[in-house]
Amino acid sequence: MKKVITFGTFDIFHVGHVNILERARALGDYLIVGISSDELNFSKKGRNPVYSIAERLKIISSLRFVDEVFVEESLELKAQYLRDFDADVLVMGDDWKGKFDIYKDICDVVYLERTPSISTTEIIEVVRQPRDN
Ligand code: CTP
Repeated sequence: MKKVITFGTFDIFHVGHVNILERARALGDYLIVGISSDELNFSKKGRNPVYSIAERLKIISSLRFVDEVFVEESLELKAQYLRDFDADVLVMGDDWKGKFDIYKDICDVVYLERTPSISTTEIIEVVRQPRDN
């Protein structure tokens, strides 16, 4: 069985998230998703996620192309997660291109194209805008 693993915050779930998870699963037989803890998200992005870790775990684990989820507590534990979950392929969006090549001695590393024109950051900005109509 080919195991695929990917990581992310997946806050304010959107179609870009669906697209990458669906394509990641298609690269193997089993998809594991590491979801950033609230603390890890704060340290990476300087803001608390809008949806808590419990909500993000519930949303991602409900997808038919996701087989297993866990909380990613620290970026430094990446190699350990890859080994513990016995991953064959690490998938990341191409905004991370090259950054995960150091794990190529543990598993294959594949970067998938991001879905254009959508991100959690952009949704937060749009929702915050006062309406002018
Ligand atoms: N992703 C994607 N296409 C998008 C947005 C995200 O393929 N339009 C992918 C990212 O490359 C990553 C995963 O979805 O592999 C989780 O990304 P995350 O950082 O949680 O989502 P973003 O929308 O990029 O969040 P932010 O705006 O806060 O950076």
